[in-house]
Amino acid sequence: MDRFLTQGQLLQELEPVVERELNRHIPVAKEWFPHEYVPWSEGRTFDGVLGGDPWLPEDSTISDVGQSALIINLLTEDNLPSYHHEIAVLFGRDAAWGDWVHRWTAEEGRHAIAIRDYLTVTRAVDPVALERLRMTHMSAGFQSAHDQELVRSLAYVSFQELATRVSHRNTGRYVDDPIADQLLTRIAADENLHMIFYRNLLAGALELAPDQTMRAITDVVTTFEMPGAGIPGFQRKAVEMAVAGIYDIRQHLSDVVLPVLRYWKVFDVEGLSDKGEHARHELSDHLAELEKSALRFEDKRDALKARLAARG
Ligand SMILES: [Fe+2]
Ligand SMILES: [Fe+2]
Repeated sequence: MDRFLTQGQLLQELEPVVERELNRHIPVAKEWFPHEYVPWSEGRTFDGVLGGDPWLPEDSTISDVGQSALIINLLTEDNLPSYHHEIAVLFGRDAAWGDWVHRWTAEEGRHAIAIRDYLTVTRAVDPVALERLRMTHMSAGFQSAHDQELVRSLAYVSFQELATRVSHRNTGRYVDDPIADQLLTRIAADENLHMIFYRNLLAGALELAPDQTMRAITDVVTTFEMPGAGIPGFQRKAVEMAVAGIYDIRQHLSDVVLPVLRYWKVFDVEGLSDKGEHARHELSDHLAELEKSALRFEDKRDALKARLAARG
């Protein structure tokens, strides 16, 4: 059966799932306080208005790549107003959908607050460069590639929340500062709950409209881009982060794409029409290509590491 639902029908039919998931989410989303994660006594007044000490590169104890990863993660969080706009327009602000839009936005709001406070107090990155990057990045805004389409958007955010979780988690491990690690682990736990919410919602769509949802999943997986892709210098920083093992194509495939697809049991879904089967084939071809790219990347990285080791 090839059942195509309009956006309005989908919003209506998925509403009970949103309500159920909200009721599941609220009790498990633990309250936490950004200020508790920041070592305030390490702080010093900066130059400028209050005449303190300017930021110097030697103030930071974090490596260049660690700084890049922290900046990418923070700027990605900073664009929350744009993300809020995208989901508020698409999901609407009524009933359970609206409750989720606002609750999610409130939870996400903690992330940039906490990371920026930590970076500023510990002088981990240049605060002037960071502020200029924030202005540039937020002035460009974020527009979802799927903003007109509910199922594609749900698929996108399922992967995106998990990708963000992995990126925060691995940045925390990489930067070699237990305080940063603790903060980013806390944020990563939020992102995981967001992923679960959207993943379960998409599972509801898969039951309601399997062909339409399979198409959406394939479209999203084959075109996936990180939400921070518009950050100035993103490509170069993304390569550094990949080489450092913070977020690379192997992690994207094994820790983000495959676990979510497995949860949806996409390769066991029955009753697809030709269109749905076609989408699923495309997906499986793409996964095979991703696997090849991941192997190529690992070979290249191993060779690079061997060269660096040989140089001492
Ligand atoms: Fe976040
Ligand atoms: Fe999130």
